[in-house]
Amino acid sequence: MIPWAKPCLFGNEKDLVMDALQSTWISGGEYVDRFEKDFAGTIGTKYAVTTSNGTTALHLALLALEVGPGDEVIVPDFTFVACANTVLYTGAIPVYVDIDPRTWCIDPEEVENAISRRTKAIIPVHLYGNVCDMEALTDISKKHDLFLIEDVAEALFSKYRGRYAGSFGDVSCFSFQATKTITMGEGGAVLTDDKRLMERMRILRSHGMREGKRYWHDFVGYNYRLTNMQAALGCAQFEKKNLLITEKKRIYERYRDNLSDMEGIELQYIAKEVEPVIWAIALKIDPEYFKGEREFLIKELLRRGIETRPGFYPFSVMPIYDAPSFPVAESVGRNVLSLPSFPFITDAEIDYICEQMRDLRIE
Ligand SMILES: Cc1ncc(COP(=O)(O)O)c(C=O)c1O
Repeated sequence: MIPWAKPCLFGNEKDLVMDALQSTWISGGEYVDRFEKDFAGTIGTKYAVTTSNGTTALHLALLALEVGPGDEVIVPDFTFVACANTVLYTGAIPVYVDIDPRTWCIDPEEVENAISRRTKAIIPVHLYGNVCDMEALTDISKKHDLFLIEDVAEALFSKYRGRYAGSFGDVSCFSFQATKTITMGEGGAVLTDDKRLMERMRILRSHGMREGKRYWHDFVGYNYRLTNMQAALGCAQFEKKNLLITEKKRIYERYRDNLSDMEGIELQYIAKEVEPVIWAIALKIDPEYFKGEREFLIKELLRRGIETRPGFYPFSVMPIYDAPSFPVAESVGRNVLSLPSFPFITDAEIDYICEQMRDLRIE
């Protein structure tokens, strides 16, 4: 069986985690500080605030920006649910917009059309490793005086015009969950250049307690801290970042070369400004070529030893989100699937997966 994802622990993970354990600093500790420093330095921001996961990173960012009841935050209709959920946690309203039919990322024109007097922020999600049109989105956020919160959970180390995704927004949020390019099991981080926001996030992630005055609380805070053991795992992974990036690029290119001319399959369009480090290779299938449905393909691939994942359900098709219908997001949501893309999957395995796709296609 070729799994859809597999964490790749091939460096100093055991040693650094053991070191954290032996130090007895198992809640906060030096590895948390080291990871924050290395991470911000690499992506190109002044500060990093680590968190317990990517969802708490998004929530913390929204809280620090004082998003709350009466505010609106624009999110793409097609993505993982965390961005809308965290907006809802704050009491603000997520305003859903359609995605670009080629990149499957938030469509800047749709964003501009959705802005109202109550809009406070935009959350562009860099989906599957692609990067949103950051030039247009930065212009829109400046023109309308809105916060830009990048969700980089799926695009760690992807670049836009030579700069890392996550270095464009007022804040940017990352996930280090088990399937992500760098993993801590669970973990997250928020990056920013704004000292005031960074300080506010540090207080909010630790119960709202004033620094230097123990058990005095200025805010209703949370416990969103990362442990030193998780950070140790992250530091070991981070030491291998260049190799992980090279691996992800090889995987992307191998799939692209194999699949780009296959009729009935559309790969996510990557603009020339983007240098992707894919989280997972994603394809949109034309169901006509696959017995009329994506589920047929998913089941058949599984029978042939290949685990895949369907695309996300758009918010607009899930009743609890109460979103209007969006044709592009719904068509992408219905027809996208992603293929195994974990580091060190072999060329032969990728070729086998592509052969099976070709074999299941009806001419
Ligand atoms: C785009 C996106 N944002 C946020 C998250 C949430 O991250 P976490 O699972 O670490 O809470 C995920 C998924 O893991 C994601 O894919």
